[in-house]
Amino acid sequence: MQSTIDFIKEKTGNFVPEIALVLGSGLGEFTKNLDGITLNYSEIPGFKTSTVKGHKGSLFFCNIFNKNVVIMQGRLHYYEGYELSDITYPVKIFKKLGVKILILTNAAGSVEKSLKPSDLMLISDHINFTAKNPLIGKNDDTLGERFPDMSDIYTKTLRDKVKECAKNIGVELKEGVYLMTTGPSYETPAEVKMFNKLGADAVGMSTVPEAIVSNYLGMQTIGISLITNYASGISDTKLSHGEVVEMGKKAAQKFAKLVNSIIENI
Ligand code: HPA
Repeated sequence: MQSTIDFIKEKTGNFVPEIALVLGSGLGEFTKNLDGITLNYSEIPGFKTSTVKGHKGSLFFCNIFNKNVVIMQGRLHYYEGYELSDITYPVKIFKKLGVKILILTNAAGSVEKSLKPSDLMLISDHINFTAKNPLIGKNDDTLGERFPDMSDIYTKTLRDKVKECAKNIGVELKEGVYLMTTGPSYETPAEVKMFNKLGADAVGMSTVPEAIVSNYLGMQTIGISLITNYASGISDTKLSHGEVVEMGKKAAQKFAKLVNSIIENI
């Protein structure tokens, strides 16, 4: 871990990020008009490179509303064949760099009819449906405890603030439970029906490992899903990754408005 920190510090000087933002599928445009320092994952010691279309692979260090922010342009997914320890490695680095708040974003399918494509959903809680946990293995007691509590990952006080931001800028924000599958196949209609009965509102293939580790490390966590489609069986159309990326682009402005407001006011 030290070689990663040393490399980043060498490239970014005394930049201390207080917020980290992870951009999900199709949401990479967020950084388009921002000035900052880009470090490609491929040059950062210890980082693995994302293989998914629509995902860049770089860290972007910038200042937004006088706050130092590090942005992950593209994340790693379990379905790409990475270990959860690789996927969550950047989260540990963020903590070491000084980050206090981690904002996780993703594209997700709706398993609850009232959530429509193009809706933004604030994650209130999650269901880990992968049967995998990023904290399995020898625990480093200097980072966090062996059996960390997970009862308030997406902190209520922070969610209230995010809802207030959305209200103030006139962006509609729904709220619900995110369920993670490993992917890469989309769900069957029977699975989607089950997920809804289990209490999920949206389904996706990311975010949960990073949220678990963030909470374990004592960082505050915000999760926002962009609903890109109705999940399998909720509507008659077949699912495609292209549709997910396209919806990300369409909702980019609304999404950027909300994230900017969060960064400004949090
Ligand atoms: N299922 C799983 N992951 C997704 C979906 C979906 O319908 N949409 C975007 N990511």
